[in-house]
This record gives sequence, C-alpha cells and structure tokens, in this order.
Amino acid sequence: MKVVSIVGARPQFIKASPVSKVLRQTEHQEFMIHTGQHYDYEMSRVFFDEMELPEPDVNLEVGSGSHGKQTGVMLMQIENVLLAERPGGVLVYGDTNSTLAGALAAVKLHIPVAHVEAGLRSFNRKMPEEHNRVLTDHMSDLLFCPTKTAVKNLEHEGITKGVHLVGDVMYDSILHNIKLAERNSDVLERMKLKPKCYALATVHRAENTNHPDRLRNIIEALALINEETRIILPVHPRTKQYLRNSELKIKNLKLKTIDPVPYLDMLLLEKNAHVILTDSGGVQKEAYWFNVPCVTLREQTEWVELVEHGVNTLAGSNRKTIYQAYRTMTGKKIDSDPELYGNGKANEKIVAILTKLTSRM
Ligand code: UD1
Ligand code: UDP
Repeated sequence: MKVVSIVGARPQFIKASPVSKVLRQTEHQEFMIHTGQHYDYEMSRVFFDEMELPEPDVNLEVGSGSHGKQTGVMLMQIENVLLAERPGGVLVYGDTNSTLAGALAAVKLHIPVAHVEAGLRSFNRKMPEEHNRVLTDHMSDLLFCPTKTAVKNLEHEGITKGVHLVGDVMYDSILHNIKLAERNSDVLERMKLKPKCYALATVHRAENTNHPDRLRNIIEALALINEETRIILPVHPRTKQYLRNSELKIKNLKLKTIDPVPYLDMLLLEKNAHVILTDSGGVQKEAYWFNVPCVTLREQTEWVELVEHGVNTLAGSNRKTIYQAYRTMTGKKIDSDPELYGNGKANEKIVAILTKLTSRM
C-alpha cells in the first residue's frame, strides 16, 4: 500500500523515524510530507541529518502563523498532494496543527487515517493540542495508543473500533538513538558538564509562554534553582520570542540559555541530568526512561502514569511550588517499569497491523 506520512514539528520527526524505518523494510511504499511547521535548522533539518529519517518527498513550507492560517494553508496544500499521490492510507503523529490538517485533508477525500499517539488527553480545552488530538482521534480509522490510559480515554468517548495498544514510538526511538548518542555526541565535554551535576529544563508550551505571569514565574524559579545547581536551558524559538518581547530581563537573572540542541545531544543531556524541569510531553517520558526525576511545569499531563508512579510531579507555574518540587524530586530514586510504555517495538506493531489490514483489502 502507498502510505503518506505527515510530519511538520520537532517531536514528529522523532516519532516518525522508527515507524518509517520499519515501513520501508516492507512492501509498503512511503511518501513523506513535511508541512514546514518547523523550519529553523535546529528545529527541523538537524533531525533529518542525524536520525535515520528519509528526506521528505515534499516540504510544503507553510511556516508560522495563527492557528487558523497555519492549519488552513496546510489543509489546502496537503489535499493537493493527496489528490496527486492517491495513497491507500495516511499516517499522522501526535497533536500538532500538522496532525489535524493531515487527518482532516485525508478524511474528506475518504482516505483512511491512522493516528500514532492516539487517545491522550489533558482534559484542558484551552490547550491547542487538546483540540488537535480529540478531533484527530474522532476522524481516525486506526488509533495507535501508547498507554492503557489512552485506550480508556477513547473508550469514554465511544471509540473502540480500530484501537490498538502498541506502546510508545518515542521509546523505540530513544532505545536506538541513545546508543548513537553515546558513540557520537561529545555534548558533555563541550559544555563542561559532569554527569548528575546539573539540571536540564525546557519551556515552550503556549499555555506558559503566552501568559507573561506564568512565564516570568517559571523563569524566576529556574533562576533560583540555578543558584544551587547549574541549569541547562535549550530555548524553543517560541519561548525565545516571548522572552525577547517581555519585560523580564533574563540576562539579569544569570540564567544562561542555549539554542535548541540536536536530538542526540538532548538524549545525553537528559540521561546525565540529576533532575529535569519541563513542560514538554516528550521530555517527561524521556526523563523516566533515563531514570531521571522530573518536575512538570504544567497543571496537567497526558502522561498520568508518570505522576502515579511517583517519578514526575506537576508543579504548574508557581515559583515556590516549582522550587519545592525541585527539592523534593532531586535525588529521588526512579525505578523504570518497562511495561508502562510498551517494549520498544511499537513501530513493528504498527507496521504489522497495517500489513495485516491491507492484505485483507
Ligand atoms: C508546536 C505544537 C506543540 C508542540 C511543539 C513542539 C501546535 C499547535 N503546537 O508548538 O504541540 O509541543 O510544536 O515543539 O502545533 N518558530 C520559529 N522557528 C521554527 C518554528 C517556530 O521561529 O522553526 C517560532 C515562530 O515564531 C512561531 C512559534 O515559534 O510562531 C510557534 O511555532 P508553532 O509551530 O506555531 O508552535 P510551537 O510552539 O512550535
Ligand atoms: N528535543 C531536542 N532538542 C531540544 C529540545 C527537545 O531534540 O532542544 C527533543 C526531545 O528530546 C524530545 C522532543 O524534542 O524527543 C520533544 O519535543 P518538544 O518538547 O518540542 O514537543 P512536545 O513533546 O512537548 O510536543
């Protein structure tokens, strides 16, 4: 079958890589659309350069814009590609605007949609990602869930057909790429970092960056922590922009920021941190897989198992709460339960299901 895979944002390159690798070892033919949602070298190209991810067959170069404009332009352009390529199915990943546009373009053309990372919910309708994932799930024919909670969430919304618990493709990705990182990345030496002597932080969610008070509190909490332990803070372009425009003078806080780092460097930085503070979805799980305690800079998480398991704590954006959470989590012993997110073969399961279904067609 011809499968069109749709990616566009940083985490989607990481999620698509293990699936694409297996897909291309079968009789299926993959055509990859990059929507161009992310376009800076360090947000896009670097992942194609260092991971086993094929060159996109087309880059729509949609770029940034308001939700309506960005999603609308993607929708129009993806539709054109689907009309030309006439695939038997479309694969979409996660919960970005590229995910929603891809799924919507496909269903309107009666092309079956498979959603990788289906069923996740924060139950916070103010998050753009929550609308993207709910709508995508309700349009999908195949729903590949990373967790049991995701399967239950779908069940509560009446979706039981086409649902498969396969595990998390990001786990597939780190198992493979951490070996490459250990061999090829010298990030610790370059940054003069000793293992377990620094904290790693990322902040990029709209729910934090778009609210000056929240962003200020988070940055000030990180600055406070930075007085005790060095904080490595790779800054997403969205956050960079908001910090540039805000009155918060980050320079006065002695908190050093760096540009987004390549994935292999990121994996080593995560593995060797003694604690991670983040509002990223992917980074929360990677912390767990590397047995590093995590403080989540949000009020909710889609990865509820981590909080239930005691390896992650939700600190929101309150300065004191973040600092206290950092103190509580630092040094906490983490036992990874290998079953929480599958066995690292979600990619193989996904492709096996696609193959089985297409052989019946
Ligand atoms: C998007 C996803 C979010 C995901 C994140 C991963 C949506 C609604 N949100 O958020 O779920 O967690 O990707 O990183 O799809 N920018 C650049 N260069 C780039 C990309 C973005 O400068 O290469 C700047 C632009 O000013 C842009 C802003 O970042 O307006 C936000 O980018 P956008 O793709 O709209 O959303 P993200 O915050 O990246
Ligand atoms: N990541 C990276 N470099 C960075 C920050 C993050 O390679 O500077 C990786 C990280 O390891 C994870 C993914 O990007 O695999 C998470 O993406 P992001 O935080 O942008 O989005 P989210 O997961 O919140 O949707």
